Order: sequence, then C-alpha cells, then structure tokens
Amino acid sequence: MTAQNTPKHIAIIMDGNGRWAKQHKVPRIEGHHRGAEAVKRTIKVAQENGVKNLTLFAFSVENWNRPKLEVSALMNLLERFLSEQMPELIKRKIRLRVIGRYRELPERIQALLHEAEETTQDYDEFTLGLALNYGSRTEVVDAVKAVAQAANAGLVDLNKIDYNSFRQYLYTRDMPDPDLVIRTSGECRLSNFLLLQSAYAEIYLSKVLWPDFDEAEFKAAIAEYSSRERRYGKTTEQIKA
Ligand code: FPP
Repeated sequence: MTAQNTPKHIAIIMDGNGRWAKQHKVPRIEGHHRGAEAVKRTIKVAQENGVKNLTLFAFSVENWNRPKLEVSALMNLLERFLSEQMPELIKRKIRLRVIGRYRELPERIQALLHEAEETTQDYDEFTLGLALNYGSRTEVVDAVKAVAQAANAGLVDLNKIDYNSFRQYLYTRDMPDPDLVIRTSGECRLSNFLLLQSAYAEIYLSKVLWPDFDEAEFKAAIAEYSSRERRYGKTTEQIKA
C-alpha cells in the first residue's frame, strides 16, 4: 500500500454492540465490553498501517436517551478504559483529543480526559479523536456562537470567513478532515457524525458488527478506499492530468 493511498484520517461509527450481544445471548453491556476490546485492536491496527488520525464515535448527544442503566454502564466502561489505557497512550505516543461537549460528562471522566489530553498533547505521530457527547449539529452551533463572539470582539472579519477559517472553531480544528468514514453493522447513515468534515470523505459500510471488527475488515476498508477516485467536484481527466 503506498503512503498516498493510506487515508490520513479515518473516522468510525462503531455500531452493532447491542446486536452482537443479542446474537450471543448476553446482556447489552457485554456487547459494549467487547466493543471496547475492538477499540483497542483498531487503534493498534491503525497505527501499524500508517494512519495518522483515527476518530471514534463513542457516545453521541442522543445516547443520553438510552436506558439509565446502559448510560451509566457505558460511562463506567469509559472510565475504566481511560484509566487502563493511559500508560498505553504514553508508551505508543498517542495524542488524545476529545471532540464533543465534554463539560456535560461526569466529572470523574472529565478529569481523566483532561489529564490524558494534557499528558499527550505534544505527541505528533498519531492522534486519537474520541467523540464523546458529540453531535455535528451541536458542534456547528457551538462554532457559530464562537465565531459570533469573536466577531463582536473585533477579532474576525465576517466577510473573510471561509470554510478553512470556520473550521478553526470546530472541535476537530487540529485534525485534518476525515478521508474515510467507516460505519459498521450494515447500517447506512451518518447519524450526526462529522457531517461538515466528511463533505468529501469516502464512506465504507461494513456488515461486521463492531465487536467483531478486526484487522482484516479494517484493511478491506483501506483497500476499498485506495481503489476509489476522489474527484472533489472535478472530472477524471482533470484529476489524472
Ligand atoms: C453502538 O452500538 C455503540 C455505542 C452507542 C457505543 C460505542 C461504545 C463502545 C464501542 C465501547 C466503549 C468505547 C470506548 C471508547 C471505551 P449499539 O449499542 O447502538 O448497537 P445496536 O445498534 O446493535 O443496538
């Protein structure tokens, strides 16, 4: 695989934990536990395959509407994951970036996230974006408010705002836009995930349920991406010229 064909940023909608649990006749939370194992696997495979940025949709603004028990189990799982993975982040020089309204998360989780972000902020080889309490619409609303405040303070000229300057107000400001968005479990929608940033992303729909997502499926997604022609609105002839 040539470096130019490797997506610089892969974003994943990790779907199907619940269905995996149902298929295996175990509680839903066991599906999430297996999902967390798939998270660890995927970070490793991404690093090994030259991907520089990986963003994972771990908890959406809409996920608060799930049964209370499932939400608190997910938060506990996240807390454990963050505590356990901290040494790994350092060992493998992974910069962690949280995207989403993270101030609305439980304080103990905010503290862990804050510590992980601070500790890893200078690593520049690989960035892991964790989308937590994330939704594209809330992100855009937050960004528009921040631009308006900056304009009121005389810090930006609204007439000069274009996408590149606007994206500096998005949660993903210090990551490139995704080249490839993967959704697992056969569902075919973007579910309010990185809608603006994915404007020119290639989309790969995997039939695999998230807990079963493995190296082979990850590589299949990258291979499919490599075979596609990204035209950004131009013609094939222009691209090849
Ligand atoms: C979707 O499956 C998955 C989620 C809502 C949460 C994602 C969480 C994990 C992968 C595990 C924890 C993550 C980290 C970072 C430790 P679903 O429950 O919607 O599945 P279903 O559609 O089959 O019911």
